[in-house]
Parts: sequence; structure tokens; C-alpha cells
Amino acid sequence: MNRRDYLLSMGATAGALAVAPTRDLFAQEQKPPDESAPTTSTIEDRKRRMKWWHEAKFGMFIHWGLYSVVGRHEWVMEMEGIPVKDYELLAQQFRPKPNVAHDWARLAKRAGMKYMVMTTKHHEGFCLFNSKLTDYCAPKQAAGRDLVQEYVDGARAEGLRFGFYYSLMDWHHPDGARCMTDEGARRRFVDYIHGQVNELMSNYGKVDVLWYDVPWPLDANGWESEKMNRMVRKLQPDIIINNRSKIPEDFDTPEQRIVASAERPWESCMTLNDSWGYHIADNGWKTPTTVIRNVITCAHDGGNYLLNIGPTGDGSVPPESVRILSTVGDWTQANGESFHGADRCQPTRSRFASFSRKGNTLFMHVYYWPGETVVLANLLNKVNSVKLLASGQPVKFEQNEWRVRMTGLPRVAPALVTTIALECDGEPRQDQEKKRAEKPREGKF
Ligand code: GLC
Repeated sequence: MNRRDYLLSMGATAGALAVAPTRDLFAQEQKPPDESAPTTSTIEDRKRRMKWWHEAKFGMFIHWGLYSVVGRHEWVMEMEGIPVKDYELLAQQFRPKPNVAHDWARLAKRAGMKYMVMTTKHHEGFCLFNSKLTDYCAPKQAAGRDLVQEYVDGARAEGLRFGFYYSLMDWHHPDGARCMTDEGARRRFVDYIHGQVNELMSNYGKVDVLWYDVPWPLDANGWESEKMNRMVRKLQPDIIINNRSKIPEDFDTPEQRIVASAERPWESCMTLNDSWGYHIADNGWKTPTTVIRNVITCAHDGGNYLLNIGPTGDGSVPPESVRILSTVGDWTQANGESFHGADRCQPTRSRFASFSRKGNTLFMHVYYWPGETVVLANLLNKVNSVKLLASGQPVKFEQNEWRVRMTGLPRVAPALVTTIALECDGEPRQDQEKKRAEKPREGKF
């Protein structure tokens, strides 16, 4: 198995296990990091810092870099074994249109997303921001501008929160792999990385999220992650940090799958097709309905959904991405209330609908519309009223111990995913087990 497949199969946070660590690093790996046992004050502080993020629920990921010029996935440098010197030439071809990030921000807003996270430096090592520590950055190459500044301006113009993705792994820096076995190289490389993180945290005003990626080939001690993140929090007291610097920090990052963390905040990141960076031939697009269902699935379990676009080298968003996100936007404009600021939700049981909840209101999101009558079984609460969320139209219903039958509905699905809001007398709960065991097996009920 190559390193990429291994990283993917382990999840990027396990990346440091992909090489045999030196004895020293391995010994340190055994020590549980301090952050794994957060104090009450860190929990309280986290709650405060993360309030907006929990309410937001839906964000835009943006993968953009020199690989976007090539259009064969963001791992093209490693996948095709391109020599560093040859790859560097792309920096002369990367000349994006001015202020494209404004278009992305408008698209994100239209889709119902509340924040953005952009790659400021991916594994290729090219920085989209102005760095004093390298010439391999957009302002000093053909682009001639600070693209992170444009991104920040674009997000702010639309009132969106924003974060910086930053890859610790670096295929370009001469010490990026050598640091694994050579202490001098590690020192230089870690100073470089900390220095760049410092630049990102110092030069753009308030930053909402720091999204580290792939910590190969070091562990938390090798990266001096605790020190690095202390510096980050000093510069950005309200920032939210993900778990990919080999310490858990604020939130977990399941990738390409939706898996809720029981006790910790989590955000599921996903591609819209099968590649993060622009891939000209990848047409494995998700449908708008799948995207909507994924947003709801995350909201149901108290998580966020970070959905990716991979703009081309000039910054254009692939038309298919625009089409899908605009359709999703039509839905979120009318139904966003059902997931922005939603609470964790217990009911799950339907073969044609997903659920979300706010307080005592249960939102039933019907993606396979059954027709004039929609039935929800095994709800333990009394339902006070029912309406179609998008139109506000009241829905007639009858309820007995076993089911709620909603009638007089349109024969044809009113929307891609139709949201029915059921106002209950308490926090909505379903009990499949009890009903299966106790429901009368004969007679009319
Ligand atoms: C993986 C990939 C990377 C992508 C990231 C997004 O770690 O290496 O290309 O940026 O996932 O989560």
C-alpha cells in the first residue's frame, strides 16, 4: 500500500504512523497529550468559542493551488512523481482572475453555507499567502497577489466566517521529509511551519478556524504542536482548531464519511465529486438530494458538513458544482431553519425520510415522497400541529398510539426533499423496540 492509500485508509490524523517512527518519537507517542483530558474551563471556553460554528452546520471547503492548473487532483505531484523543479514551473502559470473568492463566497452564501475554509498551503508546499519565509508563494510568483487576502475579503464581504486550511506535510520544502531522521532538519522545518502559522494568524485580522492537515512525518512532539497551538490561541483567542496537528484540540474531522463523535464536536468534510482539487475528468458528482441528505444527517447528530469545491487554475468554479450548489441553495433558502442551529435529534426511523430537530419541533425531511399521505410511526410524543416548512401550509393529521398519519398532501413531491414540521409536546422521541413488541397483532387499531 502506498503512503497516500495508507493515509486515506487510516484517516489523515493517523498519518504519522505511516512511517516507522524513530525510537525517540515512538516513546513520546505513548504519552497521552494533555488536551485529551480537558478541564472544565477548557470545556466552557470551547463552548463559547464554538457557538457560532455549531449553529452554522454547513460550510464550504475550497481546494486551490498549483494543482488546479494541472486539473488532475491535488495529489498529482506525488501520484505522478513529478520532480520538484518541474512542478515549480506551475507557479509561473498560476494567474487567477482577480477576486474570484468573491464569487465563491456568493455561491457559498447562496447554498446556505455559513463559513468557508480554504487551502492556504496544500501538500505541494505552494503558499497562496504572502510569506517572508519562502519565495514559493503567490505574491512572489506569476499571480503577483496575496490570494489569501482576496479570500478573506471575499468571505467578509458576504458576512461569512472563514478558516485557513494549512498542510503540515510539505513535498516542496527540502526538510519536509528529512525532518523525520535528521534533528537539524526537523528544527529548521518546524521553525518554518510555526513561522508560517504565525504569519497566517497575524496578518489577516480575526480568523475563525485553523484547519491543519496531514501531520506526516512527525508526531505531536516532533511538530511541537502544543507550543504551536498555544501561539495560535494567543494571537487568535476565539479561534477553533481541528484535530490534525496530532492533538485533539476543538473538533474531529471525519473525511468522506459521516461519523458522529460521541462526546466531541465534529465536522464531516466531503468532496462534491471524487477529488478535492480540480480534476477535469472527474464527473462523479453527488446529486443535490444527496448533498441535502448529508447536511441533515450531520445536523441530526450534532455535527457540521464541510463540502468542497475545487476551482480551476483561473479560479472558476466548475459549472457542475455551481449547478448543484445552486439547487441545494434553493432548498436551504426555504428549509434552512430546519438545520441551522438544530439540536441533536433522536428519531431516525424511516426508509424515506431523515430527521432534524429544534427544541420540540421535529423536522421530517421526506426524500422519497409517498404521495397524499405521509406516515410517521413510533413517535412517543403527542403532536400539537403539523405544517409544510417551506410554505407554512398547515397539514391535517391524525395520531394514535402507533403512528401519525398526515393527509391531504400533494400527490407529487413539492420539493426535492420536502420538510414537514411536527410540533410536539416535548422533545421528539421514537421507540421502535417497544412498539414492535407491544403493538397489537390482531384487530383494528
Ligand atoms: C486528505 C488529503 C487531502 C485533502 C484532505 C481534506 O488528507 O490528503 O488532499 O486536502 O484530505 O480533508
